[in-house]
Amino acid sequence: MMSRGRLIVAVAAAVVLAMAGCGGADAPIQNSSSTRPSEASIKRAYTMKCSLCHGSDGKLMASKAPDLSQSTMDLESRIALITYGKGTMPPQKGILDAATIRGIAEYIETFRELK
Ligand code: HEC
Repeated sequence: MMSRGRLIVAVAAAVVLAMAGCGGADAPIQNSSSTRPSEASIKRAYTMKCSLCHGSDGKLMASKAPDLSQSTMDLESRIALITYGKGTMPPQKGILDAATIRGIAEYIETFRELK
């Protein structure tokens, strides 16, 4: 049985490793700036580019868009999907910067209502 302190250290190390993996050389998109966009600008970008089909809470399902509150897609897949688009979902590459795309991909996870 691990002590609580050691467990936290192990979890923190795993998080650091996971984050290091995200910035790897084979990442599909490169951050042009290291500054993270503000929460407000991420929400604004979501409203402008995504809510048309997905709604402000992810549940609109217009134009055959899936309900984001039921999505189980992982973060890297969401980033790729938002960047390159799929079917009727338009690509955001060249429209939104990589940091904003990542921010939106993280933001929409707050819509999840999975049991
Ligand atoms: C024109 C309508 C439309 C717009 C705008 C749109 N989407 Fe989509 N979205 C779709 C459709 C349709 C799919 C299903 C694609 C497929 O699998 O063929 C989808 C799929 C997704 C998925 C995958 C969900 C899953 O679990 O399969 C995510 C995540 C997503 N969209 C996020 C976004 C974000 C973030 C934006 C804004 C940058 C956005 N979408 C803009 C229509 C749209």
